[in-house]
Amino acid sequence: MVSRVIPVDPFDLVIFGGTGDLARRKILPGLFRRFCAGQMPEEAQIIGAARSEMDDDGYRQLVRDAIEEFGDKPVPEGGALDAFLARLGYVQVDATGTDGWEELSRRITEDRVRAFYFSVGPSLFGDLAERLHQYGMASGQSRIVVEKPFGHDLGTAKALNAVLAQHFDETQIYRIDHYLGKETVQNLMAVRFGNVLFEPLWNALYVDHIQVTVAETVGVGGRGGYYDKSGAMRDMVQNHLMQLLCLIAMEPPAKFEPDSVRDEKLKVIRALEPVEPHHIVRGQYDATEKEPGYREDVEDPKSRTESFLAMKVHISNWRWAGTPFYLRTGKRLRARTSEIAVVFKDAPHSIFGAEAGRHRNVLIIRLQPNEGMTLDVTIKEPGPGGMRLVDVPLDMTFADALGPDADEVPDAYERLIMDVIRGNQTLFMRGDEVEAAWAWTDPIIAGWAARNDVPKTYDAGSAGPEDSLMLMHRDGRKWREIKA
Ligand code: BG6
Repeated sequence: MVSRVIPVDPFDLVIFGGTGDLARRKILPGLFRRFCAGQMPEEAQIIGAARSEMDDDGYRQLVRDAIEEFGDKPVPEGGALDAFLARLGYVQVDATGTDGWEELSRRITEDRVRAFYFSVGPSLFGDLAERLHQYGMASGQSRIVVEKPFGHDLGTAKALNAVLAQHFDETQIYRIDHYLGKETVQNLMAVRFGNVLFEPLWNALYVDHIQVTVAETVGVGGRGGYYDKSGAMRDMVQNHLMQLLCLIAMEPPAKFEPDSVRDEKLKVIRALEPVEPHHIVRGQYDATEKEPGYREDVEDPKSRTESFLAMKVHISNWRWAGTPFYLRTGKRLRARTSEIAVVFKDAPHSIFGAEAGRHRNVLIIRLQPNEGMTLDVTIKEPGPGGMRLVDVPLDMTFADALGPDADEVPDAYERLIMDVIRGNQTLFMRGDEVEAAWAWTDPIIAGWAARNDVPKTYDAGSAGPEDSLMLMHRDGRKWREIKA
């Protein structure tokens, strides 16, 4: 299979927070990969902008170190890194003052796409937008890129949208949810809308339930301050899991175009029913002999923030009425694994009799690791002894299907940044989507506070609190095992 790399037009990219963690770990190594893949034109210019005092060469050294440390492959021989670093510059700016802004505007090239990546806390979004306007950099060619957390609740999200809207049109605002940049997440749309096989069955008549699991082995140590104010609901569910849910549940958009896709996602979010308190299980991981527990990690012995969340969610529309969606995510679980499992209903009548047992088709879409798809189908167990049935997986690992090119598949950030340059908003969240997601999330979080809800503890390395297993058992269902 031959991969196609289509170079983008020359652009200027300014990374505010250009010396920070996200820039060093993800954005810059990702840009370097695109450069190596031949997608970035020679004339592209990347400018780091931050408070630290540094010159262009100092910044190039910082980026060289970051790529060597965080790049997923050894740096290729032959001067590619030097050629990439030559595209880089640095301007010291004060987001809340006037220092550096004249200099930045001088460095920006006339008449080409300019993207401003706000890799900074949301409290600075307003200042940055205002300065870009004030110093003449907010032209029609300009795009801004913002990261989660996009607000802390509906009120703060609305305020952020309003602040950005003062100087930028919605078509210029790119709200990143990096889950939408993942290869398999987009494959979800390809599988659903590129095949005739699945869509006729993709509804409450044929689907018993859907499970979405995003399990991580890491804890929150090192970012406890942020995490304890967010918890799994704000950190993962309101954005990443919600986006997955939308792509699984939405109606087919008329076109694969930004607003067609985003209109359909928005309808899903608006059709979500409020969640009953007993359909939610919250958890906090315990300490082990070697590692601290959640409360130690966040340095608050009384914290009531959840590091694990499992919930049963219903969507009130014709397609999904009566089919539950079970969502679960957590830190310090048994394995790092993310998957969507569509569990189909039993065949309406078994011609093989009760002794053949219960068999179901399950379509599993693995987001990570080992991206791929498996369809469990029922066949006859080979050999003599009558008609015994067995479920076997039809398995496809994308890396095998793509062959050597699999290595060249861009990671989420690379893909999304290139989409910004191309001006394609399909994989970015629109302002109303984010607000609708908060409108659904806020009452749930408020309910916990009102009831003084205390998360259950769970063993690090487990599948989460016992109660989360019960959430499914009570319905006569079972979570799929969390395993590497
Ligand atoms: C981030 C969350 O958005 O996503 C983190 O803030 C989480 O808490 C991360 O670990 C998970 O992303 P990925 O791509 O590793 O699944």
